[in-house]
Amino acid sequence: MKILAIETSCDETAAAVVEDGRKVLSSVVYSQVEEHKIYGGVVPEIASRRHAEQIVPVTRLALSEASLSFCDVDAVAVTAAPGLIGALLVGVNFAKGLCLSGGKPLVAVHHIRGHVAANYIAHPALEPPFICLIVSGGHSHIVEVKGYTDFRVIGKTRDDAAGEAFDKVARVLGLPYPGGIYIDKAAAKGDAAAHKLPKPAVAGSPYDFSFSGLKTAVINLVHNLNQKGVCLAEKEVNDIAAAFQHTVCDILTARFIKAAKELGCKRLALAGGVSANSTLRAYVKAAAEESGCELFIPPIELCGDNAAMIGAQGMFEFMAGNISGLDLNAQPAWPIETGL
Ligand code: KG4
Ligand code: ZN
Repeated sequence: MKILAIETSCDETAAAVVEDGRKVLSSVVYSQVEEHKIYGGVVPEIASRRHAEQIVPVTRLALSEASLSFCDVDAVAVTAAPGLIGALLVGVNFAKGLCLSGGKPLVAVHHIRGHVAANYIAHPALEPPFICLIVSGGHSHIVEVKGYTDFRVIGKTRDDAAGEAFDKVARVLGLPYPGGIYIDKAAAKGDAAAHKLPKPAVAGSPYDFSFSGLKTAVINLVHNLNQKGVCLAEKEVNDIAAAFQHTVCDILTARFIKAAKELGCKRLALAGGVSANSTLRAYVKAAAEESGCELFIPPIELCGDNAAMIGAQGMFEFMAGNISGLDLNAQPAWPIETGL
């Protein structure tokens, strides 16, 4: 079964063709990041406009790179939630138009379920059940993946998502947007022990996260250094980046492994943009080995937003009978557990 997948939830206009949920025939990602960089974050109105301009050429390219025409695909999968509403609407309405004109089934995909499904592409033998740490710009979830379309949230952030914290700390340190990758690079040259940062916990919820206090601690640290007349030269930036990255990754890894032990789950997966982080990958790998767990991590190109992961999850939604009508609407927020 061949699925044409569309993803426009944030600042990547993406289309892909995926066969049987695991084999990527093509994957095209048009990133708007350079345009948003000058504003230090995604400008929703600009994102929507660029999606509207790019969706047709990006989809055409995905079909031609797969050496297919639209007649050859069996269904259209589209990210319908969560994300920027104007951005999502471009993809959803485009997919609806394609399905109406071509008489194809329409499959709505939850963006975060898509991130999890990136692992099915990378690891053909991976099947649920497993437990997944999903860390992106908008989400930080520990999820029990009971089946391909059956999810239970074990823990989640109460405030900032991990990626959001990376991006905000990068901004304070004078690093470009999106900050995650720049923090990762700076941290590689820094000393994580140079600063001790807090590890906020959520009372009574051992698997939830709270990154807002940690972000504020870094902001205060930078202000205090500035007040003492310390200019943030490369060494200071690298050390703070290293301390912050170590602290976030330590919190994420400890709660993820604790949840896996509690559930007696021996199969672990990572997903989302922040799962590209070198320290997170190393910490989770070491902890998984120590606990005798099997670990699945997507390759870097499948960690960030792309449409291949939407095509992969789209196939499992289709198999579960989750076909949408042309009254499908985009949703800026939607729980991962609930069908669209
Ligand atoms: O999954 P994603 O591409 O988009 C959302 O669904 O939000 O995640 C984007 C996030 C951004 O916050 C970005 O800074 C972060 O992933 N990110 C990283 C790294 N690469 C991307 N964070 C830490 N280390 C990285 N290497
Ligand atoms: Zn994402």
